[in-house]
Amino acid sequence: MGSIVEQQKKFQWDSTMSVGVEDLDRDHRFLVTLIDRLASMDDLGDAAEVEHVLDELVRYTQEHFEREEEYMEATGYPDLPHHRQLHETMVKKIDDLRVQFFLGEKEHIGRQTLDFLTHWLHDHVLGEDMKYHPERRDPS
Ligand SMILES: [Fe+2]
Ligand SMILES: [Fe+2]
Repeated sequence: MGSIVEQQKKFQWDSTMSVGVEDLDRDHRFLVTLIDRLASMDDLGDAAEVEHVLDELVRYTQEHFEREEEYMEATGYPDLPHHRQLHETMVKKIDDLRVQFFLGEKEHIGRQTLDFLTHWLHDHVLGEDMKYHPERRDPS
């Protein structure tokens, strides 16, 4: 336990995750940092750490989704209404996690949050967000 290999970051942003927009890449890097922070915890039941990550997520989603939607709006991205809905669903999910956390299911919420963020990275950032990459967009 605690070897150098185990202490290496499990989640790290790399250029294959780039959506081709610097400000939004910076936001996504932060998301990966949060995932790594949770994934690196010895004890996902550490309530103070989990609470901190949930608080950060509330702030992050407000700022990032707004910035991303503004970019899509400014560049005439055709799938914006659908993308907005996906963001709303994620905001609700974070609300749910926080409510459950404060109702006392603290030991499960760390794991659930980590699972949720991992899916977010793979399905949303690398799937849905990637569709607005300036070099990958369908000509419209
Ligand atoms: Fe995003
Ligand atoms: Fe998005």
